[in-house]
Amino acid sequence: MTAPNEFFIKPGGTLRGKIPIPGDKSISHRALILGAMATGETRIDNFLESADCLATLEAVRLLGIEIEQRMQLCVTIRSRGLLHLQPPPQILDCGNSGTSARLLMGLLAGLPFESVLTGDASLRRRPMQRVIGPLLRMGAKIDSPSGLLPLKIHGRRPLMPLRYDLPVASAQVKSCLLLAGLQASGETWLKEPAMTRDHTERMLALFGCELLNKNGWLGIRGGQQPRAAAVHVPGDLSSAAFFIVAAAVQPRAHIELECIGVNPGRDGVLKVLKAMGADIHLKNQRVLGNEPVADIEVRGGTLQAVDIGPEMVPLAIDELPVLMIAAACARGVSVLRGAAELRHKESDRLQTMTAGLVKLGVAVEPREDGMRITGGGGFKGGVVDSFGDHRIAMAFSMAAVLADSPLQIRDCRNVDTSFPDFAKLARAAGLPIEVRESAGA
Ligand code: S3P
Repeated sequence: MTAPNEFFIKPGGTLRGKIPIPGDKSISHRALILGAMATGETRIDNFLESADCLATLEAVRLLGIEIEQRMQLCVTIRSRGLLHLQPPPQILDCGNSGTSARLLMGLLAGLPFESVLTGDASLRRRPMQRVIGPLLRMGAKIDSPSGLLPLKIHGRRPLMPLRYDLPVASAQVKSCLLLAGLQASGETWLKEPAMTRDHTERMLALFGCELLNKNGWLGIRGGQQPRAAAVHVPGDLSSAAFFIVAAAVQPRAHIELECIGVNPGRDGVLKVLKAMGADIHLKNQRVLGNEPVADIEVRGGTLQAVDIGPEMVPLAIDELPVLMIAAACARGVSVLRGAAELRHKESDRLQTMTAGLVKLGVAVEPREDGMRITGGGGFKGGVVDSFGDHRIAMAFSMAAVLADSPLQIRDCRNVDTSFPDFAKLARAAGLPIEVRESAGA
């Protein structure tokens, strides 16, 4: 067995120049699933070839869909539509990917055969009841005594329509239920407790499906047949966020990131950093494949502390770890509140971030739903464990720009789940990062 990768980063690098950020993970997953549900040939350009998206790709292939990767980062899907999807001949392994598991469940709930879903140790600990509950109400049979993966799902065609007030602000739950709603015998109506990313809604429209809106409820009429489309995947703001933060806190830094997705359900990281005084400019704002995109320019400076409240949490959910790094660099005491959802990610991100920040000499007061961080003192260097969480590994890599001695980050292999070339791109941008095989973790 290969030992986990470690990142080793010397202090003193300055980020400069254009950094080519890879395709958006959320959008790549959705394009594969909608491509499988649609009739015709869907072409996905700038597809993110990360382990998470490849897990969805493999699952879709196991449902009998023809997928070709003719050129790098370009995927073509040929489907005859929902009625032609086949029972998978083997278990669908979602690896580390919550998006694969929850979105695929929405698709599988409407397919009249049995599928089994599993994932890695981290994904098998993450809550699935949030999608199992409403899918059972729509008539799917789901066998999961513990509300976790692995689970067996026997779909029903057609599903029963649902009216559901979501108890958590989750784009994965919303998307799962929209995909199921598309396969129901009437209108499905959903209400979110707070705005979340609307990639699924935008892509459904791109694939010719109509969505309904009434008094704050989002509706979908079942029985619409999506039609194949051309999808151009923008750069992933969640991946860009690591570089945006590192450049924003480093006085001589200056970076440019082209064609990054700035979906309003996802741009909290930019809003929070601007509130902290970061020098960030969005240029050339336009719409690509029904998604807003922009070029982002960042110049380094000094940040001020910030209060991140519950309303901002869903809009920056994946960027909160790197925003905690920004808070540790900012002058004053920053507060994060209403972020208990972070405990259900690839790791318990409140716990793993607190542990790492404390190791690097940052004063942190943990709270049940957040933390208080006293910033401005820099980082003292040392060894940090990512606990196998890609975003924790990448967030702590960025602490090196303000560290006074080298950083070693343990267990970084899962960085490939969202950002396969992270270390290479970071090095090219000026971060002195090396990848080493550890002796064991
Ligand atoms: C995602 C939604 C978010 C996010 C995840 C991707 C998506 O999860 O954390 O990385 O693609 O819909 P939740 O919906 O669980 O908040």
